[in-house]
Amino acid sequence: MSEHTDPPAPSIMSSPGRGGDDRPRILFVDHTAALGGAELYLSDVAEAYRATAAAFLFQDGPLRSRLEDRGVPVHVFEAPAALDNVRKGSSIGRAAAAVPALVRVSVAIAQTARSFDLLFANSQKAMICAGPAAAWTQTPLVWCLHDLLTEDHFSRLNRWVATRWANLFASGVLVNSEATRSAFIEAGGDGRRTALAYNGINTALFDDAVTDSAALRRDLGIPADAAMLGVFSRLAPWKGQHVAIEALDHLPGAHLLLVGDAMFGEDAYEQRLQSMAARRAVGDRVHLLGFRNDIPRLMKAVDVVLHTSTSAEPFGRVIIEGMMAGTPVVATMGGGPDEIIEDGETGRLVPAGDPEALADAINHVLTGEDGDLVDRARRQAEARFSRAAMLRDVDQHLRDVLAETGVTPTSGHCARPGARVSSD
Ligand code: UDP
Ligand code: GLC
Repeated sequence: MSEHTDPPAPSIMSSPGRGGDDRPRILFVDHTAALGGAELYLSDVAEAYRATAAAFLFQDGPLRSRLEDRGVPVHVFEAPAALDNVRKGSSIGRAAAAVPALVRVSVAIAQTARSFDLLFANSQKAMICAGPAAAWTQTPLVWCLHDLLTEDHFSRLNRWVATRWANLFASGVLVNSEATRSAFIEAGGDGRRTALAYNGINTALFDDAVTDSAALRRDLGIPADAAMLGVFSRLAPWKGQHVAIEALDHLPGAHLLLVGDAMFGEDAYEQRLQSMAARRAVGDRVHLLGFRNDIPRLMKAVDVVLHTSTSAEPFGRVIIEGMMAGTPVVATMGGGPDEIIEDGETGRLVPAGDPEALADAINHVLTGEDGDLVDRARRQAEARFSRAAMLRDVDQHLRDVLAETGVTPTSGHCARPGARVSSD
């Protein structure tokens, strides 16, 4: 089933009793238009506010059509290349060179922001550019923080700037896990502004997905009795697809599907995976399927869903999706996975970067000795990670911010950018 056939998200503010007049007008801002997990999240959230919302993207790409298909108007403002060149570990020089670009994007956001009640920045670059725009236009800003601000992922400079900027300009910070919240505070962020909203997935996508494991095996040349494992993450060194390939040494006959592509310039890693599989003589057991829109169908077809990140994962949508698919999940411990999986009860947690431990856990779940682990996992996922729960938690935070900053939707802006909101 294509994700585009996903039933629409409920329009969050049009519930009986609230009427349609007090819907906040939200401008969702993202620097990328590629479909990473944060952008898939954004498309569900923005859709829920589609009657009064719009999105502002710094580039064109698949996120634009996904949002437009869901009824969310999109403004694309092509950001100058200097902004794109700033990466997680960038030096002061490169960051300084991007300042003129930042100003241009901020001005463009400010011009658009005047017709909105709230700015929702869905990435760090979006938050950096939206901050001054929020101040100029007196529009409250919420930063949705999808990343762990730790030294594994970001330079010291990057963490310092991001947290200070957020403290200065953001009235609220939505975090996708307790781990993300702790890292934000540890890096200098003001924890009182944070609120937790776990990602949630529309369960119907998994209920409705029709799968034919035998046909998939035939198409890929995988024997009927071979274990079929799947990693469903973009190709990036920290997502650890190489660890899954190494684990094949300990899993004779098992086949591995690598679903996802190199989204943010990690093409060299894709090459590395291919040559590594060939060198280890497991090339015929590794299947690179590229980016797919039928994740529920594929997750239901495989025997085990693997999550193999080599450093702590901020949240990990693929884990809750595997749980919803009714397929056992083996995940790297650390960060979001520790909050999602109860080890041995709803999935298996293994140490990061340890192919032997990964293979052991896979062998264990393949024996079926964990009993009704998948049923428990599915019930847990439905109870804790539904799309409705996510939308409720996000909406609560946005309303708290609007109330705290004194903005009543459509009343015009009288916000105090950076004003504190309580975290409860
Ligand atoms: N995904 C997808 N197609 C692919 C590979 C992955 O739609 O080919 C989706 C996957 O189902 C999940 C998201 O991409 O919803 C990845 O999110 P996650 O939080 O696991 O990791 P991220 O890439 O955001 O760090
Ligand atoms: C980011 C994180 C991932 C998380 C996703 C959605 O892409 O890397 O862990 O699940 O955002 O919040």
